[in-house]
Amino acid sequence: MKKIAIFASGRGSNAAKIVDFFNHNQNVASVELIVSNKKDALVLEMAKEKGIRYQIVNRQGFYQTKDLLNLLYKYEIDLIVLAGFLWLVPKYLIEAFQANIINIHPALLPKFGGKGMYGMNVHKAVKAAGEKESGITIHYVNEAYDEGNIIFQASCRLEKDDTPEDIALKVQQLEHVHFAPQIAKLLQE
Ligand code: GRF
Repeated sequence: MKKIAIFASGRGSNAAKIVDFFNHNQNVASVELIVSNKKDALVLEMAKEKGIRYQIVNRQGFYQTKDLLNLLYKYEIDLIVLAGFLWLVPKYLIEAFQANIINIHPALLPKFGGKGMYGMNVHKAVKAAGEKESGITIHYVNEAYDEGNIIFQASCRLEKDDTPEDIALKVQQLEHVHFAPQIAKLLQE
């Protein structure tokens, strides 16, 4: 059975879906740890409710020490899943985990990615560009934002009068449907 750490800084709706999915598929993997850089992030409430251990990191500890790496080793983490984690992943983590760090991006990369492209910024940009579709991209993480190899994409149709909020909702639905099963697939390959 594989062990997952989820890095998240926000609401954690994806993290919650992943936790639930693997609670029902315990033969595949379990979520062992949730890491957040925000001590008041909602994702930590979810972790407490569901009884998942969590770790809060600060910038200095994350970038200048190996404390987190040691924790990931302690819990024998196989896969790091970024689900709304906005800090760039440092080199030491990429080197230690190689192809075992993945991220979900709320658009169809390579469009609408890169620094500053997160949350509603993405959906506003998609709207402004008059795109006929958007979607999700699950990809490997490297040292640049949103540039690792793509693992999976799913798309949704956009209507002319969709607002950025409507787009966000459509994209989030795709995330909630696909992310956990895609993680499971990856872990079983
Ligand atoms: C998701 O839209 C994900 O694509 C992006 O950050 C958002 C996280 O949402 N990377 P939530 O915290 O899982 O609700």
